[in-house]
Amino acid sequence: MKLWGGRFEEGPSKVFERFSGSLHFDRRLVHADIQGSQAFARALEGVGILRASERAELVAAFDQLDADAGKTEFFEGASDEDVHTLVIRKLGEKVGALAGKIHTGRSRNEQVSLDVRLWLRGEIDRACELLADLMQALLDCAGRDPAAVVPGYTHMRRAQPVLWAHYLLAYFEMFARDYERLQQARARVNVMPLGSGALAGSGFPFDREAMARDLGFDSITNNSMDVSADRDFALDFLYAASTTMLHLSRLAEDWILYSSEEFGWLELGDGVTSGSSLMPQKKNPDSLELVRGKFGRVFGDLNSLFVTMKGLPMTYNRDMQEDKEPLFDAADQLCGSLQMAREVVATARLKPERPAQAAEESWVVATDLAEALARSGTPFHQAHQIAGRLVLESVRTGKKPSDWNAESLKAFAPEFTSECAAVLNPSEGMKTREIAGGTGPQHVAKALGEAQVRLAKLRA
Ligand code: ARG
Repeated sequence: MKLWGGRFEEGPSKVFERFSGSLHFDRRLVHADIQGSQAFARALEGVGILRASERAELVAAFDQLDADAGKTEFFEGASDEDVHTLVIRKLGEKVGALAGKIHTGRSRNEQVSLDVRLWLRGEIDRACELLADLMQALLDCAGRDPAAVVPGYTHMRRAQPVLWAHYLLAYFEMFARDYERLQQARARVNVMPLGSGALAGSGFPFDREAMARDLGFDSITNNSMDVSADRDFALDFLYAASTTMLHLSRLAEDWILYSSEEFGWLELGDGVTSGSSLMPQKKNPDSLELVRGKFGRVFGDLNSLFVTMKGLPMTYNRDMQEDKEPLFDAADQLCGSLQMAREVVATARLKPERPAQAAEESWVVATDLAEALARSGTPFHQAHQIAGRLVLESVRTGKKPSDWNAESLKAFAPEFTSECAAVLNPSEGMKTREIAGGTGPQHVAKALGEAQVRLAKLRA
């Protein structure tokens, strides 16, 4: 079926029909389309186009369609141009000529905006729930090894000792910002466009605020031309999704390394790893590699819509139909990756002795030493020099920090004090970092408690 045709002497060619049809992907919007059309039927009653009995008949028929749409037969053999056309045709099969009234004063340009907003709102809520689940898994992971010490890295070189929990809380912060960004995108999505017509505003005096309330929108759009032209709300989501995927990809990269034989810090769950068809010993982190890989795809979706929208003249252009596949793909990949990452985090086990050994045998305590010297009055520049010379000497002679003590330090440089000897142990040096945002153990314990409260607030 077509929602147009009167003006044409010939129908569309097969090639054009196949090329332009969107039903095979926008069928995903069917429930949103039906929900929006039910609200629109109520609005049509409000402006006297439908009698109460007609509105009731249409709403009931839409309820049946909504149930039918859950079955695969619903779409079988359908050759409608898009989901909006399909729904109206199916409505006609149920209520006959009355279906011809449902599109009064409505354009598909606003309908597609409405449907995508309704659908996307649900996807954002689902993504936020999954994100919160992942954040909880990170906190649980921190709770399993609250005292574990690991080397923190810069330039992928051992830098300073930190608590494993502090490292995990860094990701908690990234994901907390992602949650916020998704909510900000949701606020842009949750604006009601109906009543805009094709571009000039509807010719029927709909109570737009009532429609917004009916469909759970926070507000109504301000300009009908903007509605037909705008996909910012989709771009906002794609950006938030890309940033979340970026963080997931970095976590994935870390954990691929940390679970390697070279690091040996983490044992990944059997359930999230796979073997090799040839090498019997392999236990590969495919789940994390896929999470890392899917960033490219979601970022590609963001780019795709950006480039589609660039330079489009006001207002609607058919190019904009190309918004849906990247949007659907990004939502799927985001939710899938969040779920996967949560399972990896929940089933991984830290082997704390390995990172502790890495921290002890390297010179990650050098900064603590220099700062201890500075605390006892040595100018920091000189303290840095002394600690640097101690490292050089140790590297030459194969000494670890624990091979030194108060006496040998003092013999090496008279500036060394007993506090300096204490911080040769990474766990001791960390205690000097009891500052807001730092890895001091008391602060981290507090931060973990606060993170739990923040997460509960997000979920509420
Ligand atoms: N399938 C179209 C889309 O997704 C619906 C809008 C059609 N509007 C039009 N003027 N052809 O963008």
